[in-house]
Order: sequence, then structure tokens, then C-alpha cells
Amino acid sequence: MFDKFFKPQSVAVVGASARPGKIGNSILVNIVNYGFTGEIYPINPEAGEILGLKAYPSLSAVPDNIDLVVICVPPVAVPGVIEDCGRKNVNSVLIITAGFKEIGHEGAKLERDIVKRMKELGIRSIGPNCVGLVSTEAKLNVTFASSQAQARQGNIGFFSQSGALCVAILDWAMLQGIGFSKFISLGNKADINETDMLVALGEDPQTQVILGYIESVDDGARFMQAAERISQHKPIILAKSGGTAAGAKAASSHTGALAGSEQAFKAAFKQTGIIRANSIEQLFDYAMAFSYMPVPEGNSIAILTNSGGPGIIAADAVEHSMLKMASLLKDTIDGLRPKLPSTAALYNPVDIIGDGDHERYRIALDALLKDDNVNNILVILTPTATARSAEVAKVLVSSTAQTKKPIAATFIGGYSIADGAKILVDAKIPFYPFPERAVDAMDRLVFYKSHKDRVASRTEPYPVEPKTVDKLFAEALEKHHNELGETEARAVIQAYGFRVPKSILATSVEHAAKVANEIGYPVVMKIASPDILHKSDIGGVKVGVGSPEEVRETYHQLVVNAVRRMPNAEILGVLVQEMVKGGKEVILGMKRDPQFGPMVMFGLGGIYVEVLKDVSFRIAPFTVEDAREMVNEIRSAALLRGFRGEKPVDMDAIVECLMRLSQLVVDFRNIIELDINPLIVFPKGVQPIALDARLAIERPEEAVGTKIWKRGGRF
Ligand code: ACO
Repeated sequence: MFDKFFKPQSVAVVGASARPGKIGNSILVNIVNYGFTGEIYPINPEAGEILGLKAYPSLSAVPDNIDLVVICVPPVAVPGVIEDCGRKNVNSVLIITAGFKEIGHEGAKLERDIVKRMKELGIRSIGPNCVGLVSTEAKLNVTFASSQAQARQGNIGFFSQSGALCVAILDWAMLQGIGFSKFISLGNKADINETDMLVALGEDPQTQVILGYIESVDDGARFMQAAERISQHKPIILAKSGGTAAGAKAASSHTGALAGSEQAFKAAFKQTGIIRANSIEQLFDYAMAFSYMPVPEGNSIAILTNSGGPGIIAADAVEHSMLKMASLLKDTIDGLRPKLPSTAALYNPVDIIGDGDHERYRIALDALLKDDNVNNILVILTPTATARSAEVAKVLVSSTAQTKKPIAATFIGGYSIADGAKILVDAKIPFYPFPERAVDAMDRLVFYKSHKDRVASRTEPYPVEPKTVDKLFAEALEKHHNELGETEARAVIQAYGFRVPKSILATSVEHAAKVANEIGYPVVMKIASPDILHKSDIGGVKVGVGSPEEVRETYHQLVVNAVRRMPNAEILGVLVQEMVKGGKEVILGMKRDPQFGPMVMFGLGGIYVEVLKDVSFRIAPFTVEDAREMVNEIRSAALLRGFRGEKPVDMDAIVECLMRLSQLVVDFRNIIELDINPLIVFPKGVQPIALDARLAIERPEEAVGTKIWKRGGRF
């Protein structure tokens, strides 16, 4: 489908203009100057000839077939041009024109209308409101980017939702010597969107690295399916903006409050191996790393420097990354000792000290290249009278040619390193002005490698009781309850294999005393009401109730508290519950994200979860490996692993709970939010127990649009 965009034999520009300064003129100038060898048809009602090319008054007037039509006429004229495309059997259209969805209702309507019409006519389109595209392979530049910024041929396929960023990247890439295979401005993505482009670039033989800027994703499930598959053979680096909100304000659960769209993107990117750039600077830095360096064999790094400070700064950055400082082989150190001054540091970082020249760099670099304990190398230079940047850069160029290890350079300075920097750029050696940025970029190569190497275990679904859940949901909806109270919510998770404490709903004081005897003292007592979700906030929970008298007194007190604080709440009675002792509190939760579907949360439990925000997320369904990562990536995971002689909790049991939760929320797409808080976890041998749960649902027919991503699924 993309051949007509990327390799057209003929291009028509509707709105081509002879007047310099007009977009229709700039595009034509770029097409001609960039060397397109196919047919070019300027379309303009007046002009007989533009830039020496014969112009036609309309598409219909062109005698031959047209592969690609570029539209740069005002918005009102666009529908007419689309009709003309239909008559001419054109099926690939690039709409540069702005003035659609981005300007409000009227523009959005016009956009919907043209998309509908194009669908009827079998036309696929990029844009509107875009800068255009470049296909270096076809020598095609249909953009109105500055004519000085002509994309070089290279291995990066770039797409962007922001046109401004497109032109800026093109300009930057010229200076950095970075080249592109394809370069696409997506604009409003009225038809072709980011996932279509991922797929197109994933299949494009000229593209080895996919780079992109997105603000939103149209279909999260399809996006994840495509990204997961493509990132196995091509790195995908994306900058994503527009997502800092912590969560929906109206959320009624802890998970709902913590799970915003930013968390969903983070989880989706992580699970599918997408490398996230958090700034434009990182996007550029990673582009250079992935475009120029091979994927490393492992995560060890050697730092070679002529000054202590920057070497230490780099080593510190390594400490906070997935890289690790290589421990050099004895042969490497013994080999270097006689060749370097006695004051040089022979261990990693290797410091050839301040008077080191390019020869010392060569000696040390050769040794590091031969060292099997070293997978990555960072060469740092600070300009001294002896370390001339151009000479050192030449050493790097010759060394890089002989190795499959990633080598990056950090030359710190300005004027004195300019010569060296130019040599590095020309030779496609990644060059970073500061060591932290170099380490960060190399760290992402390691992340990508580790994601590629991950083997996801296949797990069978647990035997569960979906029919019980169906029934509980139907009963709740029958009563117009969208939020399930503790009793029903516990029954739901119990049907999916969660252990829950013995608990009985008491409907009177005496009834409470009777059931407490059956359960055994001490007990926990909780107000039972479908309207009261945060029970402890209104004094609705009492733990350690130790005698029948205390049970009677507590029953009374809990009801009084509820009536005072929530006079309109329907009170069903008081839940008398087995008191669980010991263990650690964790929280498991889920919120349905509008783009990515069910997003599962894990964190340390208790009432401070929303304050501490020490939680992790994944999009369900996920693998056992994802679940294990979720548990280990929270800051307080050390507390679960056993702290100061405490026994570690059973991590596998937590992972199983997460997998069971994943199964539940995938089976029931109409669950909107869910909290299991707290889930008490114990050392090995004792099954976790869910003390409390809450659940919000909608009618199944309202949830039909909820898509669930599928590992290895079609896209
Ligand atoms: N068929 C053929 N030619 C036509 C037609 C038609 N139906 N209608 C008009 N034309 C010709 C005009 O005669 C004119 O040619 P001329 O210069 O010889 O007179 C030419 O097409 C352009 O038409 P104008 O009415 O002069 O429109 P103008 O060039 O001012 O604007 C444009 C058209 C550029 C498409 C404008 O509507 C627009 O959308 N500009 C913004 C584009 C943009 O920003 N895109 C997003 C980029 S992303 C970013 O932010 C960087």
C-alpha cells in the first residue's frame, strides 16, 4: 500500500504555484531539486508552465496515470480535488493543507467528510495538516521544508505528528550527517496513522531504525501488537508528549487515581520494547546511537579518558543504568602497564592522564577492543595541548572500522574539539558533548538488546469460575449498582482463585456477636454498604475486636459513624471478618485505559499508596516475566525481599496473583476499575489473602469497544 507513497512513478502537485514563497511552489522546487526521476505534474488552473514543467488545469487533464497526488490548495478546494482523484483512479494522496480538525468543529466536520469520501473511493491518505514526506530511495522530497535541509540517505525511518518537529529534525540531521530512509509528517492522521507507519517502516528494507514523535495513539491494542513484533528486528524509538496528568480526577479507586495515560504509555512502551525518548535531545541522541552503533553483545562498558573527572562522571552514570563497568582482563592490564605512564589508571575507567596524546588513545583502545570482558566503549577527550581532537578522532575512526563493539565518543569542549567532532560526524561515530548523554544512549542499546533476548514463557490460563463472576455482575447491574461492595468484589476475585478471609455479613448486633464466635476472636468489623468505598476514611473499620461485648459496641459505633458521615448511604449491616495477622500489605489494581485497555497496577499497600505513588503498571495480558518485573521495579521492593533479617515474602505467589488478575480483567472487559487492597503476602508456604476489594463495572454492551492487545496478534 505504501509503494505509491514511497516509490511513485509519477507525482502531481495540486496547487503548484509559480510564485516563490508559496507552499505550492516550495514543494515543487523540492521535488525537482531533490532529483525525482519520475513524472511531475504541476496542477494549476492558470499556469501553462511552472519551473519549466508543463502544468495542467486539473488532474483529469493529465493524460497519464498518477501514482501520488499532493494537495496544497485551500481547505474548501480539497473535496473537489478528492473527487478529481477518484475520477483519475488515484489511490494515494498526501494532503498538506491545514484548516481541519486542528481548528475546531467546522474543520473536524470537513475532515470527517473527506475521509468518508476517500474511503468510498478507495483512497489512502497522509495528513491533512502535514509537511509532506521524503523517500530518499526514490529521490522524492514532497515537503515544504527549507530547501537547504535536504535529507541524506540513511537507515532511519522517521515519522512525526508534529510538522514543526519534522522540519527541525531534517535541519539538525543535515549538520549531524544523519541520514534517513523515509521521512513522514503524519499531520492530523485522518487516515494513515502511527501504527500504519510503524508497520510500513517495519517492512521497509531501507529502514533499520524507526524513529518517531507521537502525541496520541489511535488504537492501543493494534499499536502494541505491531510494536511488539517489529521491535524484535528493528529498534523503535519514540518521543511521546502530552501525558503528565496523574489520573482521572473522578477516579473512585486508588488505582484509578494513580493510573493516568502517561502510565499506560510507559507500560505499553516497556512491554513492547519501544525505546522512549523523554525529550527532543534524547530523541536525537538515541537516533545517533541506534543508527550508527551495532547492538552490543552484553552490558559491560569500558571508559577511556584523558582526565579523571569526566571519567568518574561517566562511571557514575553507568551506575544508574543497565550498563555495568567492565572488569578488565588481567592480560589487558598487564599489556597496558609497560606502554602507559606509571601514573595512568589501568583499571576501568582507563585514564591515560592529562598529557596523553592520540598514540596513547590508540594503545589503550586497541587493548580494550581485544578484551572479551568489554562489550561497549566510551572514549572521552578533554582538549589539552597533547590530545588534539582531530588526531584522536582519526584513531577512533580506524578502531571502529575493526570492531563490532559499540564505540561512542564524548569530546568535551567547544572550539578545540570542533575539528575532531567533524571527523567523527563524517565517519558516523556517535558523538556526544557530555558523558552522561553518551552513557544514556548506550544504556538504551542495552535495554533494546535485553528486550530482544527476553523469552516470554507461555502460561496456561488458570482454571477459574467466570460463570460466578457473570452472575455477580448481572445481579449488581440489575440493582443499578455499577460499583461492587466488598462482599461481591471479594466473591469475584475468589472466583479467580484469590484467597479471602472468612467473613459473614451481620445484620444486627446479636447476629454479629454470634458470627464472631463462629469465626473466632479477634475479628475485624467493617461497615457494609455499596455506597461507602473508603471505609476507613469514615471510621467504618475496626480491627482486633476481641470479645462479644466489644463486638456489640463496635457494631453500634460503626453504624453511627456511617450514618453521621454519609447519611444517604444504604447500610446493609456490618461485615465480621477473620483477622489476619502478620504478612505485608500490597495493593493490586486495574484501571481500563481508553487507548490501551486494562492496565494493571502493583504497589506496596496501605492508605499511603496514593501519596507515595510507589507503583508499577503493565497492560494486560502480560507475561510472568512482566509480572515479576512489576514486583521488582517498585522502589520499596527491597522490603518484600526481606529487610534486616526478615523472611522474604513469596514473590512467586505475588506474581501468580498478578497473572490471575490479568486473566480476570481480560475475560471481563466491562470492569472499569478494581482495587485489591490490601493483599496480605507472606513468606513461602502461606497463600496471600485479599482482605478487601472494590470493583467498578459497566454493562457488557457498553464495553464492546474495549480492545485487548494480543502478544503475537495481527495488526
Ligand atoms: N486546483 C489546482 N490549483 C488550485 C486549485 C485547484 N482546485 N485551487 C487553487 N489552486 C491554485 C491557486 O490558483 C494557487 O496558485 P497561484 O499561486 O498560481 O495563484 C495555488 O493553488 C494555491 O492556492 P492559494 O489560494 O493561493 O492558496 P495558498 O497557497 O495561499 O494556501 C495552502 C494553500 C498552503 C494549502 C494553505 O491553505 C494551507 O493550508 N497552509 C498551511 C499549510 C500547513 O501549515 N500545513 C501543516 C504543516 S505542519 C507545520 O506546522 C509546519
